[in-house]
Amino acid sequence: MPGYRRSDLPFSAPCRHARHDCTIVPALAGGLLAESTEQVGITSDMMRAAMGCFVTGVVVITAFSAESPVGMAVNSFVSVSLDPPLVLFCASKTSTTWPHIRRAGHFCANVLTARQEHLARRFAGRGDRYTGVTYAHGATGAPILEGVHAYADCEIVDEHDAGDHTLVIGRVVELHSDPGAAPLLFYRSRYRPLAGP
Ligand SMILES: Cc1cc2nc3c(=O)[nH]c(=O)nc-3n(C[C@H](O)[C@H](O)[C@H](O)COP(=O)(O)O)c2cc1C
Repeated sequence: MPGYRRSDLPFSAPCRHARHDCTIVPALAGGLLAESTEQVGITSDMMRAAMGCFVTGVVVITAFSAESPVGMAVNSFVSVSLDPPLVLFCASKTSTTWPHIRRAGHFCANVLTARQEHLARRFAGRGDRYTGVTYAHGATGAPILEGVHAYADCEIVDEHDAGDHTLVIGRVVELHSDPGAAPLLFYRSRYRPLAGP
């Protein structure tokens, strides 16, 4: 794909890396000015197709809100900071679960194993999410799902508005991992196991 130097661009938008002589592709150049992706010709389908090439794990974000367990499957989970220990996930603004998690003020990020694809489907679907699901309560009260690869129980410490999602930042107060388990992966819209050597 051809690149353009800053000086070639027909506008004077500042480069975010002002100290560098950045090469800016047209979509990014437009992004400096445009408010929505449609203005630079990038559709949601294009984003899904390209970003789907980035392999992720699958996490169930749980909380205990108004005496009930709630939860949703996400793949936008990221470790942010080691000291202090911070993680984040992105909640869609259309999510009906996120307002309950926000009200609880905490969440537990449950990292699923390759044997827990059914939980990923359950927590992304419309039916009752907790029937038959065994869990314990973490330090915050959030459900820790049985048999997960790892979990990070967190207090919500910050939120950032980001397009059609909200970035939710949690401070980890308790965590555990089972290094012997195998992870569930999500790649190009499909669940996959980790291929062996
Ligand atoms: C693999 C996978 C990853 C997902 N990642 C996210 C995510 O990062 N953020 C999000 O808000 N929804 C994500 N979803 C969608 C939610 O799981 C689902 O749409 C949501 O829980 C709908 O239910 P709700 O309205 O109860 O929140 C993902 C779904 C799947 C299957």
